[in-house]
This record gives sequence, C-alpha cells and structure tokens, in this order.
Amino acid sequence: MSDEKRTAKLEIEGKTYELPIFSPTAGPDVVDIRKLYGTAGVFTYDPGFTSTASCDSTITFIDGDKGELLHRGYPIDQLAEKSHFLEVCYLLLYGELPSPAELEDFESRVTGHTMLHEQMVYFFRGFRRDAHPMAIMVGVVGAMSAFYHDSTDIRDPWQREVASIRMIAKMPTIAAWAYKYSIGQPFEYPRNDLDYASNFLRMCFSVPAEDYEVNPILSRAMDRIFTLHADHEQNASTSTVRLASSSGANPFACIAAGIACLWGPAHGGANQACLEMLQEIGTPDRIPEFIARAKDKDDPFRLMGFGHRVYKNFDPRAKVMKQSADEVLELLGIDNNPTLQVAKELEKQALADPYFTEKKLFPNVDFYSGIILEAMGFPTSMFTPIFAVSRTIGWISQWKEMISDPQMKIGRPRQLYQGATLRDYVDIEKR
Ligand code: ACO
Repeated sequence: MSDEKRTAKLEIEGKTYELPIFSPTAGPDVVDIRKLYGTAGVFTYDPGFTSTASCDSTITFIDGDKGELLHRGYPIDQLAEKSHFLEVCYLLLYGELPSPAELEDFESRVTGHTMLHEQMVYFFRGFRRDAHPMAIMVGVVGAMSAFYHDSTDIRDPWQREVASIRMIAKMPTIAAWAYKYSIGQPFEYPRNDLDYASNFLRMCFSVPAEDYEVNPILSRAMDRIFTLHADHEQNASTSTVRLASSSGANPFACIAAGIACLWGPAHGGANQACLEMLQEIGTPDRIPEFIARAKDKDDPFRLMGFGHRVYKNFDPRAKVMKQSADEVLELLGIDNNPTLQVAKELEKQALADPYFTEKKLFPNVDFYSGIILEAMGFPTSMFTPIFAVSRTIGWISQWKEMISDPQMKIGRPRQLYQGATLRDYVDIEKR
C-alpha cells in the first residue's frame, strides 16, 4: 500500500468525497472506504465480497483472468513440480524458501508433534460409527484447545509458533483416525521416519495384522495434492478463520471454524460431490443430459468441479491435477478408468458449449482430484478431510499474518437493513 496520494471521487447527493486509492504489488487497485461512513454516513453493499478486499496480505496472489496462482511469488506449477508440501508450508508460514538447514529444522519440529494426546482417543470413540470424517474433524480440532493450553495465548509469538507447528503436524493424524474410526479399524500411530505424505497414507491404510509398504508413486501424488490445496488467499474457509480469529479466539477453535466452512459443497465439499456426479453420469453417452441440466435455470443442478469465484480461465491447479491423474492411473496400471474417461469427455463437451465459455466456467482443482484419491483407495467421504489437511497451512499462515498485524480489528460487517422499523410491542391477547 504505497501510493496514498491517488484518490477516487465519490459523489453522493451533490457532495464529493475523496477516497484514497492503494496500489498493490499485483492485482487491481483498491479504493480505501474505511472512513466513508464517518465522513459521508453511508455504508457500501457487497454481499459475497465480490469487490471487497477484507485485508492486506503478502502470502498468495491469484490472477483469475490469467489463471495464475502464486505463493509468495512462486507459481503453483513450479512448486508442484519441484518442491514438496513441507517446503511449501515453510514458504507460506515464513515468507521465503528455506535453506537446507532451515528445512531440516522445520521438518524435525513438525515430525516431533505428529502424535495426539492419548486422551483424545475418547473423543473419536464418542462419535457415532457412521459419522462423516469432517464432522469428527470439526469436533476433534476444536477440542484441541482443551488439551494444548500452552499454545492458546495468541498475544505470545512463541505460543503462536507452537500452535502452528502442532496443527500442521497433527492434522494428518486426526484425519487418518477419523477415517479409521469410520471403518472400524484400530488407530495407527504416526511414524516419524516417514515423510509427511507417506506417514498419512500409512496411518490411513495400514493395519496391525500385516506390513504396509507405502507406494512411492502414491506418496508423491498425495504430496502433490497437499501442495496444490495449500493456500488460496481469502477464500471462504480462510476468511472464516480470519473472522473467527479477529475476536481473539484461540487458534484451534478458529481452525475448527475453517474446517466447518470448508465442508460445504460449494467449497471443499465439491471434490466429493464431483466424483459422485461423474460416477452418476457413468458413461460418456449420458453427458449431454447432465450438461442440459446444468444449463437449465429451473434445475438447481450444477456441474461440480466447474466454475470458480476468482478463476475466469483454467484453474492452474486443475492442469497439474489432470496430468497427475493420468500419471497415477497409468503407473497403477488402471487403464481406461471409466470415471476418468467421463471426466475428460465432460470437460471437452462443456468447453465446446457457449453456456460455459461465455460464463467463463472452467474445470477447477476438484474436477480431477477425486479420481486420483479414489484410485489411491480413499472413499469419497475422505476427500474433503484431505483438503482440510492440505489447507491447514494456508489457514495458519493467514491467521499468523493477521494476528501479527498491529492494525488488526475485530471483523464486523454492516448490513442493508430491510426489516420492520420501530413499532410498539403488542400484548399476546391482542394479536
Ligand atoms: N454449473 C453450471 N452453471 C454454473 C456453474 C456450474 N458449476 N457455476 C456457475 N454457474 C452459472 C450460475 O448459474 C450463474 O449463471 P447466471 O449468471 O445465468 O445466473 C453464473 O454461472 C455465475 O455463477 P455464480 O454462482 O454467481 O458464481 P460464483 O462466483 O458465486 O460461484 C462457484 C462460484 C460457487 C464455485 C460455482 O461456480 C459453483 O457452484 N461451482 C460448482 C461447485 C464447485 O465446483 N465448487 C468448487 C470451487 S473450488 C474450491 O472451493 C476448491
């Protein structure tokens, strides 16, 4: 926010108000309306925040028209290809790529925190056996604030750091245990000699009765899925975490709020909904029927995995994910996967249809991720929990940035009130 001298003029009933314009390092200029109510006595109206910057940030930048996603300036396709998830976590959290010594130290701090307090097992056992793993995650992550009192004081930078590391480290254990509980298998404890993705796969798929060797191809694909979902600037769940934190609530409670928001089918729940839709379509000959439904104004059906609030071009993560789906299925020897065939044909037909191109609806990250996760052996109910594991670093990095900002204020939107005006209470016998 360098150039405070440029201004925009707003005229309201003959009176002109000057509003400062900020120039970001990338992206559109931002008009500062913070003093508008104080000077002009009006609010602005923007439900869904389609034109409103809710904060300033240095973490992630998206150019939706170009289909570009940068973390601390580095493009997501380069990070997906050359980096790995824990290095991206370091980058998001601290702002720069780590030196070898910094990375080693960070990885050892994370692996030192992978276990859960043993008493937390009882929380898992308290859920119904058929609970959705996301329901378990919301509850268990919120409950962490009852166990880790020494990292809930948000004014203490050291406690913030410990809380951050704890969440990155423990989230795979929580997600894997939510899964194990839902299928009636014993919990697998983390193994700190394995990398982050391999450890997660082992906790999900290993059983005490037999040895489990992590397939390096699957581990690499898992790591890439984590990397591609790591952060996405001020999306709904991240904004939820920021808003919850703005009251000074503890980080575990705020991340639980983010998980709850992520669960919705318009956000993180779309990967589950997308695979279920592809399976329902079943064969390429049924695609026109589903495209017609998606275009029908009277039918609430939407093509899941299509469209994005910010991307009005290809989601750059979808490109990497599509390539990854091809690689994983080929390497696993799953040729001619019918769901992948339906997905590719659906993408082709939708992109040839003016309805989708005119509205700039392109495949998003979730269009292909479910196919990879299914090939790895995950049920659809685990897709969103895996997204939550990945996005935890984004939530934490954005939370840390917000808490360290001296300008932090409680988030408190205004409203356009359309209800009844002042009226007198009517006694019940007179109604
Ligand atoms: N299928 C059919 N039509 C669509 C779709 C879709 N997937 N997405 C948007 N449209 C249409 C809408 O009907 C609307 O049409 P209209 O202008 O004629 O009324 C227009 O495109 C704009 O849609 P909005 O809902 O206003 O766009 P918004 O930016 O609010 O929504 C969203 C974005 C929620 C992602 C939407 O595209 C959608 O529901 N997609 C399917 C769910 C999905 O894949 N979500 C994952 C998002 S990525 C993520 O969270 C990781």
